[in-house]
Amino acid sequence: MGAGKSTLGPEVAERLGRPFVSVDAVVEEQTGATVAELFAERGQDAFRDLEERVAIEVLTRRLPAVVELGGGALGAEPTRIALSEHAFTVLLETTPEEAWERVSSGVRPLASDPEEFRTLFEQRTPLYEAVADGHARDLDGVVLAAAGVHVWECALDGLDGLAPGAGDVALVVDRGVEPLHGERARTALGDRLSTSHLLPAGGQAKSLAQAKELWSELRLDRAGTIAALGGGSTSDVAGFVAATYLRGVSWIAVPTTLVGQVDAAIGGKTAVDLEQGKNLVGAFHWPACVVVDPGLLETLPPEELQNGLAEVVKTGLLAGEPLWELQRAEQVRRCAAFKAAVCLRDPLDRGTREQLNLGHTFAHALETASGYALPHGRAVALGLCAALRLSGLEDDARTVEELLHAERVRVDRDAAWAALALDKKAAGGRPRLVLLEARGKPKLGVELEPVEIRAALDELIA
Ligand SMILES: NC(=O)c1ccc[n+]([C@@H]2O[C@H](COP(=O)([O-])OP(=O)(O)OC[C@H]3O[C@@H](n4cnc5c(N)ncnc54)[C@H](O)[C@@H]3O)[C@@H](O)[C@H]2O)c1
Ligand SMILES: [Zn+2]
Repeated sequence: MGAGKSTLGPEVAERLGRPFVSVDAVVEEQTGATVAELFAERGQDAFRDLEERVAIEVLTRRLPAVVELGGGALGAEPTRIALSEHAFTVLLETTPEEAWERVSSGVRPLASDPEEFRTLFEQRTPLYEAVADGHARDLDGVVLAAAGVHVWECALDGLDGLAPGAGDVALVVDRGVEPLHGERARTALGDRLSTSHLLPAGGQAKSLAQAKELWSELRLDRAGTIAALGGGSTSDVAGFVAATYLRGVSWIAVPTTLVGQVDAAIGGKTAVDLEQGKNLVGAFHWPACVVVDPGLLETLPPEELQNGLAEVVKTGLLAGEPLWELQRAEQVRRCAAFKAAVCLRDPLDRGTREQLNLGHTFAHALETASGYALPHGRAVALGLCAALRLSGLEDDARTVEELLHAERVRVDRDAAWAALALDKKAAGGRPRLVLLEARGKPKLGVELEPVEIRAALDELIA
C-alpha cells in the first residue's frame, strides 16, 4: 500500500504493450461499490474473499497483462500460489515513510493512523519478500526485473546467486576477457562451476566450428546452465549452444562490452555466422538472467566503447531522450531497460522489434562493402545519419554526426548498393527502412524510391 503501484502499473503496461488490470478496480466494477464502501458495509473478511476470487480469476486468465494486486491480497494462500504459478511478481520497494506520504491523504480503509500503518507495513513485508520474483523502484526497474536483467556495480560477484536453479554452471569466456575478469567470475561461481571454456576473442568466436567444440566439451545435464562472459560475440555463440545442447539448457549472459550491456545480451537472439553471411544460423533463447556490471567496461578499449556508443545513440533516438548524456552506469541501465521492453513486447521479432534496426540497413551495407573491415559502430553512426536525413530530421543528423564523429568511408559504391538491396529486411527486393517521425517516434517498414535511398547511401561514402 502506497508503493506507487497504481501510478507505475499503467506505465509498465504501456511500455510492454499489455493491458493493465487492477484487482481492486475489477472488484469495484463487479460489486458496484468502492473498496472503502465494501470495507465499511461488508467488513474486511468479506472484501478479502472477493479480492481472492478476482485475483485468481485474473491471474489464471493466461492472457499477458500487467496486474496490480492490493496490499493485503497476499494474505490469502491461494493467491500466493496463483502468483507463483502464473505470474512474474515484482515487489515495488518503498519505505514506510514514503508509503505513508502517498496514502495519508487518501481514503484507504487501512491507512488512517501512521503507527498502525507502520505496523501493518512491517507485518506484510516478509510475505511480499516471499512471493517476489524481482524488486524494483521505478518503471525501468520493473521492466529490467521482468526481463531478468540485473544492473548494478559489482554484479559479477553475485553470479552464483543469480544463476538459475542449483545445477552446475559451465563458464564460456572470450579469450581477451579471460585475463581481465575470468578469475573473478570463477570465484563468484564457487562450487557451482563445472567447466570453463575459452573462445577466440571477438567475432572469431561466432562459428559453427566453435559451437561444435563447445557441444563436445560441455559436461552439463539438463539442470545445468551456461554462463557467457564476454561481448556480443560470446553471448551470441554461448546462447546458441545453450539453445541447442541437450535440446536446450538455460544460460546467463555477463556482458563485458558496452554493446553487450545495452544491446547484444538482451532479448534472447542468439546466432553464429556462416561463410554466406552473418547471423544466418541461430535461435531465440531468452537468457535466464543478464548480469550487467558497468565496472567491467573499465578495461574496454576506446574503439569498442565507440561501437557501444553508437547503439546508445540509436537507443536514445528511439526512446526520445538524450541517453548518451547520462553517466555510464545510468546510461547502461536506461538503454538496457529500453531494449528489454521492446523485446518483451515482441520476443520473436515479428513486429515492433524491427525499430531496433534504425540505421542498420545502411550500416550493414557499408560493413559488407568494406569486407567487414569497417567497425560496426562507425557503420551505425553513418547509418543513423542517413536514416535521420531521410526522416527529414537534419538537426538530429548533425547532432549524431558530431556525437559519433561520423566520417564518410571509402568503400565501393556499387558493392554497398548491391548489399543494401540484398538486406534481409528487404521485402520483394525493396528495402524496408526504419525512420523517425521525430525523436521517440519510430516509423517501421518505410518504402522509399530506390533513387532516394541510393542518394542517402552515396552521401555516406567518400
Ligand atoms: N544478439 C543480439 O541481439 C545482438 C545485438 C547486437 C550485436 N550482436 C552481435 O554482437 C557481436 C559484437 O559484439 P561486441 O561489440 O560486444 O564485441 P565482441 O564480443 O566481438 O568483442 C570485441 C572485442 O572486445 C574485447 N573485450 C570484450 N570485453 C572486454 C573488456 N571488458 N575489456 C577488454 N576487452 C574486452 C574482446 O576480447 C574482443 O576483442 C556481433 O557479432 C553482433 O552480431 C548481437
Ligand atoms: Zn548494431
